[in-house]
Amino acid sequence: KEETEKIKKLTDDLIKKIKVKDAKVVVGGSLKKDTWLRGIHDVDIFVAFNYKKYKDKSDRLSDILEKRLKKFRAVRLHGSRDYFRIKKGRFAFEIVPILDIKNATLARNITDITPLHSIWVKRHGLEDEIRLTKAFAVAQHVYGAETHIRGFSGYVLEILTIYYGSFMGFIKGVSRWKKLVIIDPEHKLKDPAKELNKSKINSPLILVDPVDATRNVAAVVSEEKYERLIEAAKAFLKNPLEKFFTLKDEKIFKRAIA
Ligand code: CTP
Ligand code: MG
Repeated sequence: KEETEKIKKLTDDLIKKIKVKDAKVVVGGSLKKDTWLRGIHDVDIFVAFNYKKYKDKSDRLSDILEKRLKKFRAVRLHGSRDYFRIKKGRFAFEIVPILDIKNATLARNITDITPLHSIWVKRHGLEDEIRLTKAFAVAQHVYGAETHIRGFSGYVLEILTIYYGSFMGFIKGVSRWKKLVIIDPEHKLKDPAKELNKSKINSPLILVDPVDATRNVAAVVSEEKYERLIEAAKAFLKNPLEKFFTLKDEKIFKRAIA
């Protein structure tokens, strides 16, 4: 609780200081969704530019934002749209420029859709169940979608927990996974394996994004992390001990999520 209050206060203070014409500065990611875990020191902040004014200039959003962030000594990072990092002690704020959209079909870039993910997750009100799932995944070394990890992203675990109804539902569901699993939580597609782009369905888990039916959100999940999660779920069912949620020490925990 103390950590949440501290991080929320720091975030609010920073948000108030970032001023961008025709854009709203808002908190995003797990802090917004209330699925944030103790020990994660990354905060996602979105600068959502007015859709009408910027829809045809969306390739310039990063440059516009860069000028506004100069005084914070923000570092520019490359992504599907360039974004910025501001370090404050042990916290890192990632400032992402997006177009303010209400519907995924209006997106000009994949990051524009991110706030819609938060709305979908929050609607289900399963924050504490999701936290259990995330802590389990971190401790079992399968958390993170970064290319050097190729595990399960926070958003993938959120969708799976919601789809299975709870943490225990998730564990039972995963323990029954075979070689290939296809999940389409909002029943958006008739046959995801046929309708999704071939390059997006090489993963053992095909998980259709509930707010964007063109995306397999689990596309990066490797066979190794997939098998490891199934084995961990089976082991937990046999012997549900607290140690499945913890790492030997806090340092390893931080490295596991870094
Ligand atoms: N996102 C995504 N696909 C990824 C990574 C991120 O769709 N491979 C989107 C999700 O909507 C996510 C947001 O970008 O909520 C922020 O990414 P990240 O910080 O990685 O996820 P969080 O949900 O904030 O989880 P964490 O607690 O680990 O920060
Ligand atoms: Mg985050």
